[in-house]
Amino acid sequence: MAAEKKASVLPQHVGIIMDGNGRWAKKRLLPRSAGHRAGAQNFRTITRYCSRVGIKYLTFYAFSTENWSRPAEEVGGLMHLFKDYLEEALRDFMDENIRVRFIGDMGGFSEDLQALMRRVEKESAGKTGMVLNLAMNYGGRAELSRAARLFAEDVQAGRRAPGDMDEELLPQYLYTAGQPDLDLLIRPSGEQRLSNFLLWQCAYAEFVFFDILWPDFRPQDLDKALEIYASRQRRFGGV
Ligand code: FPP
Repeated sequence: MAAEKKASVLPQHVGIIMDGNGRWAKKRLLPRSAGHRAGAQNFRTITRYCSRVGIKYLTFYAFSTENWSRPAEEVGGLMHLFKDYLEEALRDFMDENIRVRFIGDMGGFSEDLQALMRRVEKESAGKTGMVLNLAMNYGGRAELSRAARLFAEDVQAGRRAPGDMDEELLPQYLYTAGQPDLDLLIRPSGEQRLSNFLLWQCAYAEFVFFDILWPDFRPQDLDKALEIYASRQRRFGGV
């Protein structure tokens, strides 16, 4: 049982790409929106499970900078879903001692969704349990370009010198500043790619792929990913 795993083999930071909602719906002859609803429900279940198992940082890819190119109806449906689930999450996650953070360009969302995000962050700020990052309007390349821009502004303002930039400093300009790099990346649905998710933070992450569509991904599957992770030997470039 994962809850009994030794802390040393438990990943500190887990990332999940919630993929396969559309295919899950199609298999059932349902609209794609039904797949996203089932996916959102599962997001709650897996979040709660990760927090109980003892994961310290959990990051979900909820909406990428590229997802805006989907049909307007699907994007609109997802925005409604975010609103509903963030309100529920607010209640749920408070009881679980979870701190919620949003990573990505929040300025791309409607004013009321942005206000809700700020509220969720503010009201959970004092929580001391798992940190839940929701990547929304997020792209790894956009995050890295933003870091370069912020650093250039600091140089221009005289707060930094160009020579200050190194591998220690750059992550301080990322949305995940102060958090550990990713240890384990889970992607269900059969696709085996990173899709512009946490490019810097995944440098030494272990990848575990599943042939299961996200709405069907169960806590037992998470246990399986944790077992696979624990059995891997991480060398970080050494021998
Ligand atoms: C990818 O599946 C999934 C998304 C683009 C949306 C994921 C978002 C949720 C599940 C809502 C979570 C809610 C909150 C509040 C974080 P896909 O549509 O690309 O699936 P397909 O590849 O089978 O078409």
